[in-house]
Amino acid sequence: MKVAIASDHGGMFIRKEIILLMEEMKIPYVDLGCENSESVDYPDYAIPVAEKVANGEVDRGILICGTGIGMSIAANKVKGIRCALVHDMFSAKATREHNDTNILAMGERVIGPGLACDIVKMWLTTPFIGGRHKKRVNKIVTYESTHELKSNEVYILKAD
Ligand code: RB5
Repeated sequence: MKVAIASDHGGMFIRKEIILLMEEMKIPYVDLGCENSESVDYPDYAIPVAEKVANGEVDRGILICGTGIGMSIAANKVKGIRCALVHDMFSAKATREHNDTNILAMGERVIGPGLACDIVKMWLTTPFIGGRHKKRVNKIVTYESTHELKSNEVYILKAD
């Protein structure tokens, strides 16, 4: 499994901790920034990670900002993405088992690095259980394929 990870300035510390964890777990990853503590815009980091997951370059994505909310909203605009905002162990397990989420979002101003790393471990190692949950996920996939979003290029041009 390969993972793409990114954060804005509000999520840099936990991102670095998760990178250390992935190195320990021998999980290949690509780090898409941000580079330093200068203020940046979370969609510029969420969308590239989400596109890499959606086009199959990587299997999963991890996104961290101050709250995790902006990252999760932005990632979920990309077709094929099921991004969950998670701050507890129960949800980390349930969102893999039930929702087959492919991106995990967390907020560095909400939880500490210890819990964030435990959530990542749980989320990366829990399989989707399928069954009745497959039918529910398929309803989302069907909706997505019949209701097109505007392209990310249009979204980016309209920003600012
Ligand atoms: C940045 O100040 C903050 O808004 C961002 O990290 C995130 O919390 C947005 O949802």
